[in-house]
Amino acid sequence: MRTQVAIVGAGPAGLLLSHLLHLEGIESIVLESRSRAEIEATIRAGVLEQGSMDILNEAGVGARMRKEGALHHGIELAFGGRRHRIDLSGLTGKAITVYPQHEVIIDLVAARIAAGGQLLFEASDVAIAGIDGVRPTVSFMHDGQARRIEADFVIGCDGFHGVSRPMIPAGVRQDFQRTYPFGWFGILVESAPSSDELIYARHARGFALVSTRSPTVQRLYFQCDPRDHVDNWSDDRIWAELHARLESDDGWRLKEGRIFQKNIIGMRSFVCAPMRSGRLFLAGDAAHIVPPTGAKGMNLAISDVKLLSRALQAYYRGGSEEALDRYSGEALRRIWRAEFFSWWMTRLLHTFEDASPFDRQVQLAELENIVSSTALSTALAENYVGAF
Ligand code: FAD
Ligand code: DHB
Repeated sequence: MRTQVAIVGAGPAGLLLSHLLHLEGIESIVLESRSRAEIEATIRAGVLEQGSMDILNEAGVGARMRKEGALHHGIELAFGGRRHRIDLSGLTGKAITVYPQHEVIIDLVAARIAAGGQLLFEASDVAIAGIDGVRPTVSFMHDGQARRIEADFVIGCDGFHGVSRPMIPAGVRQDFQRTYPFGWFGILVESAPSSDELIYARHARGFALVSTRSPTVQRLYFQCDPRDHVDNWSDDRIWAELHARLESDDGWRLKEGRIFQKNIIGMRSFVCAPMRSGRLFLAGDAAHIVPPTGAKGMNLAISDVKLLSRALQAYYRGGSEEALDRYSGEALRRIWRAEFFSWWMTRLLHTFEDASPFDRQVQLAELENIVSSTALSTALAENYVGAF
């Protein structure tokens, strides 16, 4: 098989890149190790920055997001028994949309298929070769047959555990990493929303987050031991923990409902630099991970592929590799700012077991400073909506 751009991974990065290239008349093939049903059902992110919404709208895949997504103009920070609103729109002129990642995936897969795009699911044994030459290849198994794609470029959009990043030679690649001593326990609940806006809560028992999915399904998270197991958490134990961490002195109460999904995610910060070796480029979680506290992961994946699609477009229009040469440096500048924000929000809101009583008071004082200062609230809001 021959194509211009071979893309490994059909997450938000790979699917959107393929679609943006298609809109510019550039051909690509996407290889995905999982089935369509699996990628369309995997519950992950929920928050889209305004810039991500703009990109999805410009790409013509925003209709359902505009209709079904919930536009949020603020978030709440809860600590010390009180809730404080951060007026995202008032402070930045921008908003966020809560629209689940798997719905973005459903929209992108439908758009690729409608446009006749080549999307190969359940591709196994994917192996990349020849990235130092002008005809890199990707070999794989599909439908019981060994196949090989020859391309001009290979783009690794295969997430943190993919095969692309290890292709960048160890001597060239630098990995920056931090793991956190806690994870998030996430649940999906059948109930009406407890709050019109997301609530990020700092509590001595640990962080908790109230998010939403739809008028009838809610998404809640709480800080947990990353080695814990969902079977150790009965529904009653989960509700007791959430009530303890979330309830405030103003009479606000969390609504309960049937819990129909539970999962635990670990948390890390990770950046690989550069995001390129020869004709191989990385985008999204293949190159960087943020802890989920700032809701940046899917947004970074989207902004990477926007940049990369423009660079590929410049190459195919005029043969210039200049924009491709700039890709890694430009993407990393934005990525490091998001890494900073995600680390800072994580540190601000989570309980660290080794924190001294002094550390805990300073953490509360930092929260008090933020909610009582327009300058500090604005800085948080700008980072949260992605206004840079
Ligand atoms: P992925 O979505 O990981 O996609 C990679 C794809 O590649 C997968 O489909 C995988 O099956 C495939 N693949 C892997 N290896 C191979 C291989 N060898 N061959 C072929 N295919 C392969 N981000 C936000 O912006 N906002 C949020 O609110 C948010 N909340 C989150 C909450 C949770 C609980 C979690 C887990 C994550 C959250 N994130 C959030 C992060 C976000 O989900 C990721 O950053 C995003 O999925 C990255 O997209 P991607 O396309 O780079 O990678
Ligand atoms: C969600 C996830 C996040 O990481 C976050 O900061 C806010 C919301 C969510 O899944 O809804």
